[in-house]
Amino acid sequence: MTPTTDNNRIIIFDTTLRDGEQSPGASMDLEEKLKIAQLLEEMGVDVIEAGFPIASNGDFEAVRHIATTLKTAVVCGLSRAARGDIERCAEAIAPAPRRRIHTFISTSPLHMKYKLQMTADQVYERVQDSVRHARSFTDDVEWSAEDGSRTEPDFLCRCVEAAIRAGARTINIPDTVGYAIPDEFGAVIAMLFNRVPNLDQAVLSVHCHNDLGLAVANALAAVQAGARQVECTINGLGERAGNAALEEIVMALRTRFDHLPFTTGVKTEMITRASKLVSVLTGFPVQPNKAIVGANAFAHEAGIHQDGLLKHAATYEIMTPESVGLSQSKIVLGKHSGRHAFREKVRALGYELGDNALEEAFRRFKALADKKKEVFEEDLAALVDDELAQGTPGEERLRFSLLEVVCGSRQPTADLELVIDGVTRRVRATGNGPVDAIFIAIRTLFPHEAHLSLYQVHAVTQGTDAQAEVTVRLEDGGRSVNGCCADTDTLVASARAYVNALNRVLVRREKTAPAALSA
Ligand code: KIV
Ligand code: ZN
Repeated sequence: MTPTTDNNRIIIFDTTLRDGEQSPGASMDLEEKLKIAQLLEEMGVDVIEAGFPIASNGDFEAVRHIATTLKTAVVCGLSRAARGDIERCAEAIAPAPRRRIHTFISTSPLHMKYKLQMTADQVYERVQDSVRHARSFTDDVEWSAEDGSRTEPDFLCRCVEAAIRAGARTINIPDTVGYAIPDEFGAVIAMLFNRVPNLDQAVLSVHCHNDLGLAVANALAAVQAGARQVECTINGLGERAGNAALEEIVMALRTRFDHLPFTTGVKTEMITRASKLVSVLTGFPVQPNKAIVGANAFAHEAGIHQDGLLKHAATYEIMTPESVGLSQSKIVLGKHSGRHAFREKVRALGYELGDNALEEAFRRFKALADKKKEVFEEDLAALVDDELAQGTPGEERLRFSLLEVVCGSRQPTADLELVIDGVTRRVRATGNGPVDAIFIAIRTLFPHEAHLSLYQVHAVTQGTDAQAEVTVRLEDGGRSVNGCCADTDTLVASARAYVNALNRVLVRREKTAPAALSA
């Protein structure tokens, strides 16, 4: 059944790659966006907003690449209500078998007066013109009333009716600044159903921001009032305090089907994997007590709770960890496990690796199994994510070779060896701490202008022999680039994550400005 023929089916519109990427510091490169888009499609997300093609050539290329690759999900591009924007967006999404143009303009008095400096009549004309123009490229056009929740009801109704008459199939009402309160927002949606005569010809959508922590509550109130598309992001990523979190919307609908009798097409068992991928690639950690995907979301500390759980899981668990793809930390393989078992386990975790990547991941797994008594599923996932996050061999100018660190109460020293453009080079550097010494050593061997804006460590599993997953973010020419690495040695992971980020900076520079190649 297609989402629009079943009245209780909620269309999940993911905007992690567009609104999510607008979070300061969350920018992703083309390969990273493609990886997320593919996972979202596999997960059953209906519409994937892949970017804002007019914003930059990088955005355009990413949307185009995603449009070329995805097969089943609708690929959507955002555009302002301007002809040039719409044409660029249409060009970017053209290769997708299912494609949507999402065009928007502000409709609130505040935005029209100060941001657009346009009268309501001018905005009204622009709504119709932009939707008609978008319809000349695709039948699937979405129109958004930016700052919709603060728009005069009469004007909102007029614009919605006009947008549908001009050909919009989806009408989106954003709570752009996260100002709405659930019952009030639900009433706006109900008002539209009561007053807009042609609303039955479109799907009503909502897009809620989380400035007051109410994005999910507002979106669910809108669903109860008749909205059938929800715009959301993995981990609630997005402008300022973020958007409604996809995992919270989907699991609220699944868990409280008794009260909210709506379905989605999302395979909820893939939620944890999607959350981890987005967190690793953006360098945005998930707070431990975050609903659904936080590290503590299914942890029970209090003895009284544990006792209840042992007697009956439902005493303290409203959904199972398995339903979001979280399995008990299982020891999966040991150092005697062979290639075949490794390949099967990697597949069972949902990864498809090419022969070379699989061979390299297997080599690293053996090394890990030598160091670590027990290799858990999380270790394998971190190792494979890490392998996938490494640059294409041959594109990397820098390769990590060796590291020795002396640290303690005396001056920390890092002895580092890198292979740079095929030549082995070594240096000893001191710093304020071991990580500082390592990063100074890298900058000494390969001077560069990119500066460090984030250094983050997270333990993959529990115990002192756990792998450390390190994210390093470098800022270069106004863009940020993340490098990641997992290793049982936090300092080795730190050095490799920095080298990984630096290689990405160099690849990006090579692609955008050949003249700026030297560091
Ligand atoms: O928050 C907002 O209003 C938006 C629109 C472009 C849909 O992101
Ligand atoms: Zn938004």
